[in-house]
Amino acid sequence: MNQETPPLRSTPPQSAPRGTTVFIRRHSVVTRLSHWLNVLCLSFLLMSGLQIFNAYPQLHWGQYGMDSDPAFLTVGAGESHGAPHGFVRIGSVSVPTTGVLGLSKVEGEWAPQAFPTWLTFPSYQDLAAGRNWHFFFAWVFVINGLIYLGYGVLSGHFHRDLAVKRHEIAPRHFWREIVDHARLRFPAGEDARHYNVLQKLAYIGVFAGLLPLMILTGLTLSPGIDAAFPVLLDLFGGRQSARSLHFITASLLVVFVIVHVAMVILSGPWNNLRSMVTGRYAIRKKESDA
Ligand code: HEM
Repeated sequence: MNQETPPLRSTPPQSAPRGTTVFIRRHSVVTRLSHWLNVLCLSFLLMSGLQIFNAYPQLHWGQYGMDSDPAFLTVGAGESHGAPHGFVRIGSVSVPTTGVLGLSKVEGEWAPQAFPTWLTFPSYQDLAAGRNWHFFFAWVFVINGLIYLGYGVLSGHFHRDLAVKRHEIAPRHFWREIVDHARLRFPAGEDARHYNVLQKLAYIGVFAGLLPLMILTGLTLSPGIDAAFPVLLDLFGGRQSARSLHFITASLLVVFVIVHVAMVILSGPWNNLRSMVTGRYAIRKKESDA
């Protein structure tokens, strides 16, 4: 299926002189296209999702919400000593967030809104438009994900590049990877040809854990889907629980993206970005490389 040199494989001669730089083809065109389409979809999904959240900025656990299942998270605005303020309340703990969450400025005026206009899409309050954009990008995202999944299985990309090998989860190896990461010591030379085990686990956790959970909880928010598959409501303990899990999953994805981008920057931003744009990745041979 893949017409170009397979990614993350030993394309240059292993005998290149030490200290020289060789280029390998790290990512196939399908991986690159689906990655950047993913970034576009997830950005719009997040921003249109926050637009939808703003219409009812509370999270509940259970079937019904409102008074039956009191909110465990509220992003709101109130008044203290005659001055308006924004807050996030989780359980009984309230944190002041004026200016960003709960209360922020719209055209120079304070306005009560959970997430500020610069984080929502559309920027002005419009629930119907937010939902339309959310559903549109959700479908593009799912179709893109299915193409990536099919390609990953058929081309051998998953098996070859992302499957965790037995020796990688041996305690000594695993611990050394953690220590190296903590010290910001990233693989170099021949070792940089492959994803390291923490990278593999993070990617697998995202597309085998977070993304399916996000899609399933999203589907549970649709009354039509619930009517066809009531088991979804049982699985997540009700529509309010599904909504809360959908929000928590999206938040965890944001955390993943922050760490992911930080790692891209810390381990060589231009080389990494070039590999995800053109496919080419530079490897500098070390003294210890054979
Ligand atoms: C602006 C944001 C992002 C940037 C700059 C970025 C950059 C990159 C780069 C440079 C790589 C290649 C890493 C390497 O070769 O070692 C990569 C791989 C990857 N990224 Fe991102 N990324 C972004 C957002 C995302 C998002 C939102 C997701 C999904 C939730 C994601 C999931 C992945 C996955 C799964 C891979 C491995 C792909 C494969 O080999 O099949 N990234 N990213």
